[in-house]
Amino acid sequence: MSLTIRPLTEVMAAEVTGVDLTGDLPQATVDRIRQAWLDHTVLVFRNQDLSPATQAAFTRRLGDLEHHTVSEYTHPEVPEVFIISNIKKDGKYVGAAKSGRHWHSDSQFLEIPSAGSLLYGLEVPPEGGDTLFASMYAAYDTLSDEMKARIADLRIVCSRVKAWPISYPNRPPLTEEQKARLPDVVHPLVRTHPETGRKSLYIGGNVVWEIVGMPYEEGRALLDELRRHATQDRFTYRHRWRKGDAVMWDNRCTLHSATPYDEERFDRLMHRTTMLGTAPA
Ligand code: SIN
Repeated sequence: MSLTIRPLTEVMAAEVTGVDLTGDLPQATVDRIRQAWLDHTVLVFRNQDLSPATQAAFTRRLGDLEHHTVSEYTHPEVPEVFIISNIKKDGKYVGAAKSGRHWHSDSQFLEIPSAGSLLYGLEVPPEGGDTLFASMYAAYDTLSDEMKARIADLRIVCSRVKAWPISYPNRPPLTEEQKARLPDVVHPLVRTHPETGRKSLYIGGNVVWEIVGMPYEEGRALLDELRRHATQDRFTYRHRWRKGDAVMWDNRCTLHSATPYDEERFDRLMHRTTMLGTAPA
Protein backbone atom coordinates (compact mmCIF):
# COMPACT_ATOMS: atom_id res chain seq x y z
CA MET A 1 0.00 0.00 0.00
CA SER A 2 1.47 3.35 -0.89
CA LEU A 3 0.78 6.47 1.06
CA THR A 4 -1.20 9.13 -0.79
CA ILE A 5 -2.19 12.64 0.25
CA ARG A 6 -5.28 14.28 -1.26
CA PRO A 7 -6.11 17.90 -0.39
CA LEU A 8 -9.70 18.37 0.80
CA THR A 9 -10.15 22.13 0.37
CA GLU A 10 -8.27 25.00 -1.26
CA VAL A 11 -6.91 26.30 2.04
CA MET A 12 -6.46 23.36 4.38
CA ALA A 13 -6.90 19.67 5.22
CA ALA A 14 -5.89 16.54 3.34
CA GLU A 15 -6.91 12.89 3.43
CA VAL A 16 -4.08 10.41 3.86
CA THR A 17 -4.62 6.87 2.56
CA GLY A 18 -2.44 3.77 2.47
CA VAL A 19 -1.30 3.87 6.07
CA ASP A 20 -2.24 1.83 9.14
CA LEU A 21 -1.43 3.96 12.17
CA THR A 22 -1.23 0.91 14.44
CA GLY A 23 1.71 -0.46 12.48
CA ASP A 24 5.37 -0.16 13.29
CA LEU A 25 5.76 2.63 10.74
CA PRO A 26 9.14 3.23 9.09
CA GLN A 27 10.65 6.62 10.00
CA ALA A 28 10.37 7.71 6.34
CA THR A 29 6.57 7.26 6.53
CA VAL A 30 6.35 9.20 9.78
CA ASP A 31 8.44 11.96 8.16
CA ARG A 32 6.03 12.13 5.20
CA ILE A 33 3.06 12.34 7.53
CA ARG A 34 4.78 15.09 9.50
CA GLN A 35 5.51 17.07 6.32
CA ALA A 36 1.90 16.61 5.12
CA TRP A 37 0.67 17.83 8.52
CA LEU A 38 2.84 20.95 8.24
CA ASP A 39 1.69 21.54 4.65
CA HIS A 40 -2.05 20.93 5.14
CA THR A 41 -2.49 21.56 8.91
CA VAL A 42 -5.32 18.99 9.21
CA LEU A 43 -4.90 15.34 8.19
CA VAL A 44 -7.70 12.79 7.95
CA PHE A 45 -6.97 9.05 8.21
CA ARG A 46 -9.99 6.79 7.55
CA ASN A 47 -10.69 3.22 8.74
CA GLN A 48 -8.20 3.12 11.58
CA ASP A 49 -8.42 0.68 14.49
CA LEU A 50 -6.63 2.41 17.33
CA SER A 51 -6.46 1.22 20.92
CA PRO A 52 -5.58 3.90 23.48
CA ALA A 53 -2.04 2.49 23.59
CA THR A 54 -1.53 2.45 19.80
CA GLN A 55 -2.99 5.96 19.47
CA ALA A 56 -0.58 7.24 22.11
CA ALA A 57 2.32 5.35 20.49
CA PHE A 58 1.63 6.83 17.04
CA THR A 59 1.19 10.38 18.37
CA ARG A 60 4.43 10.03 20.33
CA ARG A 61 6.27 9.43 17.04
CA LEU A 62 5.42 13.06 16.20
CA GLY A 63 6.13 14.66 19.57
CA ASP A 64 6.05 14.33 23.34
CA LEU A 65 2.55 13.99 24.76
CA GLU A 66 0.67 16.43 26.97
CA HIS A 67 -1.49 15.31 29.92
CA HIS A 68 -4.89 17.04 29.88
CA THR A 69 -5.57 19.49 32.71
CA VAL A 70 -8.97 17.85 33.40
CA SER A 71 -7.64 14.55 34.81
CA GLU A 72 -11.16 13.29 35.60
CA TYR A 73 -11.58 12.28 31.95
CA THR A 74 -8.20 10.85 31.10
CA HIS A 75 -8.08 7.18 30.17
CA PRO A 76 -7.50 4.99 33.26
CA GLU A 77 -4.76 2.89 31.62
CA VAL A 78 -3.28 5.41 29.17
CA PRO A 79 -3.49 8.81 30.90
CA GLU A 80 -2.22 10.65 27.81
CA VAL A 81 -5.57 9.82 26.17
CA PHE A 82 -8.36 12.30 26.96
CA ILE A 83 -11.92 11.00 26.56
CA ILE A 84 -14.72 13.11 25.07
CA SER A 85 -18.18 11.56 25.27
CA ASN A 86 -21.86 11.94 26.10
CA ILE A 87 -22.07 8.28 27.19
CA LYS A 88 -22.90 7.68 30.85
CA LYS A 89 -21.92 4.72 33.02
CA ASP A 90 -23.49 4.38 36.49
CA GLY A 91 -24.99 7.85 36.04
CA LYS A 92 -21.62 9.50 35.28
CA TYR A 93 -20.20 10.66 31.96
CA VAL A 94 -17.32 8.44 30.81
CA GLY A 95 -15.66 11.46 29.20
CA ALA A 96 -15.91 15.23 28.93
CA ALA A 97 -19.38 16.02 27.55
CA LYS A 98 -20.09 19.03 25.30
CA SER A 99 -16.37 19.56 24.98
CA GLY A 100 -14.81 22.23 22.79
CA ARG A 101 -17.99 23.67 21.26
CA HIS A 102 -16.44 26.99 20.43
CA TRP A 103 -13.53 28.02 18.26
CA HIS A 104 -10.29 27.32 20.09
CA SER A 105 -6.74 26.05 19.90
CA ASP A 106 -6.00 23.27 22.38
CA SER A 107 -4.35 24.39 25.62
CA GLN A 108 -3.76 27.98 24.44
CA PHE A 109 -4.20 28.91 28.12
CA LEU A 110 -0.91 27.18 29.05
CA GLU A 111 2.47 28.86 28.97
CA ILE A 112 3.62 26.11 26.61
CA PRO A 113 0.50 25.29 24.56
CA SER A 114 0.11 22.18 22.49
CA ALA A 115 1.57 21.71 19.01
CA GLY A 116 -1.07 19.36 17.70
CA SER A 117 -3.86 16.96 18.54
CA LEU A 118 -5.08 13.62 17.21
CA LEU A 119 -8.78 12.86 17.66
CA TYR A 120 -10.06 9.33 17.05
CA GLY A 121 -13.74 8.47 16.59
CA LEU A 122 -14.82 5.24 18.31
CA GLU A 123 -18.56 5.98 18.25
CA VAL A 124 -19.93 8.79 16.09
CA PRO A 125 -23.49 10.01 15.52
CA PRO A 126 -24.99 9.48 12.04
CA GLU A 127 -25.67 13.23 11.87
CA GLY A 128 -24.20 16.22 13.70
CA GLY A 129 -21.16 16.11 15.97
CA ASP A 130 -18.90 17.35 13.13
CA THR A 131 -15.65 19.14 13.89
CA LEU A 132 -14.93 22.45 12.17
CA PHE A 133 -11.40 23.67 11.45
CA ALA A 134 -10.30 27.14 10.39
CA SER A 135 -6.93 28.04 8.91
CA MET A 136 -5.29 30.83 10.87
CA TYR A 137 -2.62 31.10 8.14
CA ALA A 138 -5.32 31.98 5.60
CA ALA A 139 -6.97 34.30 8.11
CA TYR A 140 -3.70 36.18 8.65
CA ASP A 141 -2.63 36.24 5.00
CA THR A 142 -5.91 37.86 3.91
CA LEU A 143 -5.85 40.72 6.43
CA SER A 144 -5.27 44.22 5.06
CA ASP A 145 -1.76 45.65 5.40
CA GLU A 146 -3.19 48.23 7.86
CA MET A 147 -4.59 45.51 10.10
CA LYS A 148 -1.37 43.49 9.91
CA ALA A 149 0.57 46.57 11.04
CA ARG A 150 -1.96 47.33 13.79
CA ILE A 151 -1.77 43.86 15.37
CA ALA A 152 1.88 43.04 14.66
CA ASP A 153 3.16 43.53 18.21
CA LEU A 154 0.01 42.94 20.23
CA ARG A 155 -0.03 40.45 23.08
CA ILE A 156 -3.05 38.69 24.56
CA VAL A 157 -3.92 37.56 28.07
CA CYS A 158 -5.23 33.97 28.05
CA SER A 159 -7.25 32.90 31.06
CA ARG A 160 -8.63 29.40 31.50
CA VAL A 161 -10.05 30.40 34.89
CA LYS A 162 -12.08 33.40 33.61
CA ALA A 163 -13.22 31.52 30.50
CA TRP A 164 -14.27 28.31 32.31
CA PRO A 165 -17.88 29.29 33.23
CA ILE A 166 -18.43 30.60 29.70
CA SER A 167 -16.96 27.57 27.92
CA TYR A 168 -18.45 25.00 30.29
CA PRO A 169 -21.62 26.36 31.96
CA ASN A 170 -22.82 22.78 32.58
CA ARG A 171 -19.72 21.64 34.44
CA PRO A 172 -18.84 22.19 38.11
CA PRO A 173 -16.72 25.28 38.74
CA LEU A 174 -12.95 24.82 38.91
CA THR A 175 -11.68 24.03 42.38
CA GLU A 176 -9.23 26.40 44.09
CA GLU A 177 -6.53 23.78 43.52
CA GLN A 178 -7.29 23.62 39.77
CA LYS A 179 -7.33 27.42 39.56
CA ALA A 180 -3.94 27.61 41.25
CA ARG A 181 -2.52 25.34 38.54
CA LEU A 182 -3.94 27.55 35.75
CA PRO A 183 -2.50 31.07 36.09
CA ASP A 184 -3.24 33.55 33.29
CA VAL A 185 -0.57 33.60 30.56
CA VAL A 186 0.43 36.11 27.88
CA HIS A 187 0.97 35.11 24.23
CA PRO A 188 1.50 37.00 20.98
CA LEU A 189 -1.66 37.66 18.96
CA VAL A 190 0.23 36.92 15.75
CA ARG A 191 2.49 33.92 16.07
CA THR A 192 5.17 32.57 13.79
CA HIS A 193 5.06 28.83 13.27
CA PRO A 194 8.28 27.31 14.66
CA GLU A 195 8.57 24.82 11.78
CA THR A 196 7.09 26.50 8.70
CA GLY A 197 8.02 30.10 9.56
CA ARG A 198 4.51 31.23 8.48
CA LYS A 199 2.49 33.78 10.45
CA SER A 200 -0.96 33.04 11.82
CA LEU A 201 -3.58 34.56 14.10
CA TYR A 202 -3.61 33.15 17.61
CA ILE A 203 -7.09 34.23 18.63
CA GLY A 204 -8.73 31.04 19.86
CA GLY A 205 -11.94 31.04 21.74
CA ASN A 206 -13.02 32.09 25.14
CA VAL A 207 -9.64 31.88 26.86
CA VAL A 208 -8.29 34.85 24.90
CA TRP A 209 -9.50 37.36 27.43
CA GLU A 210 -8.00 40.74 26.64
CA ILE A 211 -5.27 42.56 24.77
CA VAL A 212 -2.34 43.75 26.87
CA GLY A 213 -2.21 47.55 27.25
CA MET A 214 -5.56 48.18 25.50
CA PRO A 215 -8.81 49.19 27.23
CA TYR A 216 -10.81 45.99 27.82
CA GLU A 217 -13.78 46.89 25.56
CA GLU A 218 -11.56 48.07 22.72
CA GLY A 219 -9.53 44.86 22.91
CA ARG A 220 -12.64 42.69 22.91
CA ALA A 221 -14.03 44.56 19.88
CA LEU A 222 -10.78 43.99 17.98
CA LEU A 223 -10.73 40.29 18.93
CA ASP A 224 -14.34 39.91 17.79
CA GLU A 225 -13.54 41.58 14.48
CA LEU A 226 -10.54 39.29 13.92
CA ARG A 227 -12.54 36.17 14.88
CA ARG A 228 -15.38 37.08 12.50
CA HIS A 229 -12.82 37.44 9.72
CA ALA A 230 -10.91 34.27 10.66
CA THR A 231 -13.83 31.86 10.83
CA GLN A 232 -15.46 32.67 7.50
CA ASP A 233 -16.51 29.54 5.58
CA ARG A 234 -13.83 30.13 2.95
CA PHE A 235 -11.09 29.43 5.54
CA THR A 236 -12.69 26.31 7.02
CA TYR A 237 -12.94 22.56 6.65
CA ARG A 238 -15.86 20.61 8.18
CA HIS A 239 -15.04 17.07 9.20
CA ARG A 240 -18.06 14.74 9.11
CA TRP A 241 -17.02 11.82 11.25
CA ARG A 242 -17.12 8.15 10.34
CA LYS A 243 -16.32 5.51 12.93
CA GLY A 244 -12.59 4.74 12.71
CA ASP A 245 -11.55 8.22 11.54
CA ALA A 246 -8.42 9.70 13.08
CA VAL A 247 -7.97 13.44 12.50
CA MET A 248 -4.74 15.21 13.37
CA TRP A 249 -4.41 18.99 13.39
CA ASP A 250 -1.82 21.65 14.07
CA ASN A 251 -2.91 23.84 16.99
CA ARG A 252 -0.27 26.42 16.12
CA CYS A 253 -2.09 27.56 12.99
CA THR A 254 -5.69 26.34 13.19
CA LEU A 255 -8.76 26.82 15.33
CA HIS A 256 -11.32 24.08 15.73
CA SER A 257 -14.80 23.71 17.16
CA ALA A 258 -16.99 20.72 17.95
CA THR A 259 -20.62 21.01 16.81
CA PRO A 260 -23.80 19.76 18.56
CA TYR A 261 -25.73 16.57 17.87
CA ASP A 262 -28.78 14.83 19.32
CA GLU A 263 -27.31 13.54 22.56
CA GLU A 264 -30.52 11.81 23.62
CA ARG A 265 -30.50 9.58 20.54
CA PHE A 266 -26.85 9.14 19.61
CA ASP A 267 -23.59 8.21 21.30
CA ARG A 268 -20.31 9.93 20.55
CA LEU A 269 -17.05 8.57 21.98
CA MET A 270 -13.75 10.18 21.00
CA HIS A 271 -10.17 9.70 22.21
CA ARG A 272 -7.77 12.61 21.95
CA THR A 273 -3.99 12.67 22.28
CA THR A 274 -2.17 15.99 22.34
CA MET A 275 1.43 16.85 21.49
CA LEU A 276 3.46 19.28 23.54
CA GLY A 277 4.52 22.42 21.75
CA THR A 278 6.92 25.28 22.37
CA ALA A 279 6.36 28.79 23.70
CA PRO A 280 4.58 30.81 20.95
CA ALA A 281 6.91 33.32 19.30
C1 SIN B 1 -11.67 19.17 20.80
O1 SIN B 1 -12.03 20.34 21.00
O2 SIN B 1 -10.50 18.84 20.91
C2 SIN B 1 -12.71 18.13 20.43
C3 SIN B 1 -13.44 18.43 19.19
C4 SIN B 1 -14.56 17.46 18.95
O3 SIN B 1 -14.97 16.71 19.86
O4 SIN B 1 -15.08 17.44 17.83
